[in-house]
Amino acid sequence: MVSLATAFTQQAGIEVPLICGAMYPATNPELVAAVSEAGGIGIVQPLSMVYVHGHDLRDGLRLIRRLTARPIGMNVLIERSSRTYHERMRRWLDVALEEGIRFFVTSLGKPGWVVERVAAAGGVVYHDVTERRWALKALESGVHGLIAVNDRAGGHAGPVSAEALIDELGDLGRPVICAGGVGDEEAFVAALRLGYAGVQMGTRFIATEECRVHPDYKRRIVAATEDDIVLTERVTGVPLAVIRTPYVERVGTRAGKVARWMLRGRRTKYLMRTIYALRYVWKLKRAALGGGSSRDYWQAGKSVSGISGIEPAGAIVRRFADAARAAR
Ligand SMILES: Cc1cc2nc3c(=O)[nH]c(=O)nc-3n(C[C@H](O)[C@H](O)[C@H](O)COP(=O)(O)O)c2cc1C
Repeated sequence: MVSLATAFTQQAGIEVPLICGAMYPATNPELVAAVSEAGGIGIVQPLSMVYVHGHDLRDGLRLIRRLTARPIGMNVLIERSSRTYHERMRRWLDVALEEGIRFFVTSLGKPGWVVERVAAAGGVVYHDVTERRWALKALESGVHGLIAVNDRAGGHAGPVSAEALIDELGDLGRPVICAGGVGDEEAFVAALRLGYAGVQMGTRFIATEECRVHPDYKRRIVAATEDDIVLTERVTGVPLAVIRTPYVERVGTRAGKVARWMLRGRRTKYLMRTIYALRYVWKLKRAALGGGSSRDYWQAGKSVSGISGIEPAGAIVRRFADAARAAR
């Protein structure tokens, strides 16, 4: 048996060390609730909640509460270059704390201000990292755990493998979660055996009954193999894992010339990042919810190779937990 009880399950107050990672635009309240109700923990993506699925944040959190009484988490994307965005994120963090959320996943930037507020309320903050140097910075901010995003992850992948990352981060005295490449129960058990305190999955949970993305997107995930996943800089300016389509092949995966030039300039880089952010919010929403056009991007990680069907999210959590209990 591989133990399901880890430092992470203890901190988060859950049974199964499995996170449904935040996904813009794929996270919806019903998906978060289903994962938590089955014993894992679903993470709310506030931009997805408000701008894609049309709920006011507080109402959306209350909707989840009606579906499960178990712990849920929220993603705080730290981006200080826009003051409006930063103020909104601060307000959303307060709403989440008022609504009883005590587990937070931070990405990008310095999470110190989040840790301060969350720890004062008795909660914990896990920070997304791709390399040891970012982990050391996050520890300076007082984070309680690390989410190690590896080179097979959906979303913004890191440069290092899951095996190398646990070697880099395992001695830092904080629980480390494996994010990337886990699509089936064998990979889940293998990650726990490597010494990870839990696993965060994204792509696997898109191909579920509760996820509200377009059925075509789910079918593409089920049909894809890991060789179909490529990293493109053209959506956000940094490598984003997407399914290779004729469109992706045609336009290539490097940022355009003008974008690259703008990203190099001290002032122009902020403008370029804003352009990317707006494009990202709009383009990915359209691709995920609509039937898709010939110019769309479908985000997915190499975990597609372990995904063979569309299932209820809770059944996935239970199957993975059973596999760990049965493992020798
Ligand atoms: C469609 C999609 C959107 C994502 N959006 C976010 C996000 O908004 N914030 C975040 O912290 N991580 C985001 N991620 C990363 C996931 O939370 C998770 O770490 C990752 O999907 C793990 O890799 P996997 O897809 O191989 O399971 C996203 C991933 C995907 C596939």
